[in-house]
Parts: sequence; C-alpha cells; structure tokens
Amino acid sequence: MHIFHKIEELENHFSTVSKGESKGMVPTMGALHSGHISLVKKALNENKHTIVSIFVNPTQFNNAEDLEKYPQTLKEDIALLETASKDIVVFAPSAQEIYNSDIKSESYNFDGLEKVMEGEFRDRHFDGVGTIVEKLFSIAKPDNAYFGEKDYQQLQIIKKLVEIKKIPVNVIGCPIVREESGLAMSSRNKRLTPELRTEAAFIYKTLKDAKQKFGTESALEVTEWITAQFKKNDLLKLEYFTITNADDLQTIKIKSENKKYRAFIAVYANDIRLIDNIALN
Ligand code: PAJ
Repeated sequence: MHIFHKIEELENHFSTVSKGESKGMVPTMGALHSGHISLVKKALNENKHTIVSIFVNPTQFNNAEDLEKYPQTLKEDIALLETASKDIVVFAPSAQEIYNSDIKSESYNFDGLEKVMEGEFRDRHFDGVGTIVEKLFSIAKPDNAYFGEKDYQQLQIIKKLVEIKKIPVNVIGCPIVREESGLAMSSRNKRLTPELRTEAAFIYKTLKDAKQKFGTESALEVTEWITAQFKKNDLLKLEYFTITNADDLQTIKIKSENKKYRAFIAVYANDIRLIDNIALN
C-alpha cells in the first residue's frame, strides 16, 4: 500500500509507470464501507494500477455542520482497503494541498442536471463536486474512474463534466451496495442510532413498493402515495421524492413505453440526510 499526501509524491510514483498500463481511480471522501470497496474491487480487476483518493471536499458541503460532523477515519480506511488488496495507491491530500488558501469552487453548467434534486436542496453542491473531481482527474490522470449509482445524479454530472471539458477518462457506474435491511450503505449511516438505522430500511422498502406501483399507476399517483407513507412515519422526514427520466433527470408527468425512468428520494433521520434511488423499468 502506498499512501501519499502530496501531489508531487503521487506524480513521482507514476512517473516511472510504463505508458499503456491502465490507471483506475476511485474518488472518495473516506469513512469507507463495502459500497466503496465494491468500486475499488472493480477498479482492481480492470486496471493495472488503482488509486483511491480520500478527501473530505469542503466546497461541496453547503452546510458547515454537515462538513464538521463528516466522519474522518483514515487509519480504519487504510485497514479496510488492505483487505481488498495491498496493491493500492491511496491519495489523501490536505485541503491546503488541493486548494492552497483559496477554498472555493468553479461554476459549471451541466445542462440543467445540476439544478434538480440534490442541486435544488444543496446550494452549489455540484459546483463543489465538479471542482474537486476535475482537480483529481488532472492530478491522477486515470484512464478509468468509478462512481456509484448510490449518487446517480452525481454520476450523470461527472459524465457530463468529462464530455464538456473533454477529459480523456472513462466514467464507469457501479451498482448500489445495500445493508442486509436494504438501507443503501453510506458513510452517514455511522451517525444513525440503532433505532434510526432499523427505521431507515423503510426508505428502500418504500422505493421498491413505488417501483411496483409504477407498473400500473401514474408518476403523480406514486408520488402522492410515497408522500402519504412518510407523513405516517414519525422518525423519518421526506425532503423530496421524484420520478425522472433516467438520462436528463427531469421530473416526468406522463410516462411513455420506451423510455427509462428512475425514482429518487432524500429523507432526514433527525439531522442525518439519507438519499437513495431505484430504476423503475
Ligand atoms: P463518497 O460519498 O465517499 O462516495 C465515493 C463513491 O462511492 C461515490 O462514487 C459513491 O457513489 C460511491 N458509493 C457510496 N456509497 C455507495 C453504495 N452504497 N453503493 C455503491 N457505491 C457507493 O461521492 C463522493 O464521496 C464525493 O462526492 C466525491 C465524488 C468523492 C467528490 O468529493
């Protein structure tokens, strides 16, 4: 395992690597779990070299308290990565190393993808994500980069970023890894009390029911049904539920036969914000 904190160390390490040996990258914010490890394993299988970045990116947090409470567990993260392979390059820079003293994000136009859902509720979140991912790609120069469908909107935005900025990297989406209860794995789950963790399984259960209903009911009916389910739930507070086209992520009113749709949800369990999504057809 190589652990680098400086850009120069990472660049030096790869300066001796022969051309034509592929590099896979998994950008993360640490507090790693099996969801992250599934991406790392795919990168290990498909590339000669695998880089995992661990960096809690300040510019993508619209809420100072969320940033402050974000778990930072570098030692445990490295131990978990070692269970996957010792042949991983970890890049764990400081904010100073990435941003110097100028901690701010670029402004992007991702053709409207950035305006809906997470973009609507988390001001400038995707400007922060775009900024850090563009920086990481320019530092590590991966051939392949792996992102989870857990953050499906983010995945679509990274694909758009690469297209707009003409960055020579393949962006590869990976399926959502869930806990046994169905709850999508997330670094934020660590902050849930046992009671809330059990209750949070309600999110995926309701998404699966929504998928079934979508077979026979309209998007509006399914949305109203979901809203009613969460109104009856004292522990979980629905922030949004929406059914969109799978590609442009615009909310749909009327469905047509040959298009792909997805449902997206954001829920608060106390002050902990959880997101999930599901393919509907
Ligand atoms: P983070 O939340 O640490 O997630 C890193 C990657 O792991 C993302 O691509 C995310 O979609 C994926 N991931 C998280 N939970 C998953 C799960 N249960 N199943 C499958 N994949 C999962 O996403 C970020 O960090 C940041 O925004 C980042 C892209 C690193 C930029 O700072």
